[in-house]
Amino acid sequence: MPASEKNAQLPAPSKSTPTLSGDDVTVVFVLGGPGAGKGTQCANLVKDYGFTHLSAGDLLRAEQERPGSQFGDLIKDYIKNGLIVPMEVTVQLLENAMVADLDKSGKGDIKGRKGKFLIDGFPRKLDQAHKFEESVCPAKMVLFYDCSENEMEKRLLIRGQTSGRSDDNAESIRKRFRTFVETSMPVVDYYQTQNKVVKINAERDPEVVHKDTQKQVEAQLGKNF
Ligand code: ADP
Ligand code: C5P
Ligand code: MG
Repeated sequence: MPASEKNAQLPAPSKSTPTLSGDDVTVVFVLGGPGAGKGTQCANLVKDYGFTHLSAGDLLRAEQERPGSQFGDLIKDYIKNGLIVPMEVTVQLLENAMVADLDKSGKGDIKGRKGKFLIDGFPRKLDQAHKFEESVCPAKMVLFYDCSENEMEKRLLIRGQTSGRSDDNAESIRKRFRTFVETSMPVVDYYQTQNKVVKINAERDPEVVHKDTQKQVEAQLGKNF
């Protein structure tokens, strides 16, 4: 059986009270199609505002490589095919990373700790959005980097020359675009109904996109959030 058909074996979601409070922790979701420039802009925002940057894709790739991971084969199969990994895995990886970041001192009690997180490439499916906000932390805003498929494909094929990623190739890119349109855009639409989305034209020069992002972040969160 291919790993992508095995998600029935994953544990059911277990918790309905968020681990972290939106009063202490600022969560910004960073969305956009594959190659829109999410990672590039997140790196800028880390320097500007001291966010902790957590890329869901990076966390999944690290888990895939972790010796002894029970999810390694499943993640590999989903990523190659541009499919969304069952949410329990990704939400748990994000929660672990956030808690570890808040508990840098290692003392264990993270209640009341302040933090700012850019959650990059997540949520990519509505069930991830609901599960994360219910069980980990509510989000304050969504940055949505809007870019044409033509431009994203160009960028990904260039990135593929050096990234070593199993999904930066023409066939996987086609599948990722399809997943984005069918599964991930409904997440953007959902947050739009909550007026949390800031849409940014990501087709432009990276520095122009950066300046626009700064303006929008400060308009939503203020200068000293
Ligand atoms: P994402 O995280 O959304 O998949 P990345 O930030 O990894 O996207 O960017 C994809 C590729 O495009 C990278 O090689 C990056 O250097 C390049 N890139 C990012 N932003 C721009 C831009 N505004 N114009 C041209 N190339 C870009
Ligand atoms: O964001 P990135 O392009 O690094 O994501 C790579 C892949 O990781 C996605 O195409 C998808 O297979 C998986 N992923 C996921 N759920 C997320 C983020 C990434 O399943 N929220
Ligand atoms: Mg990325």
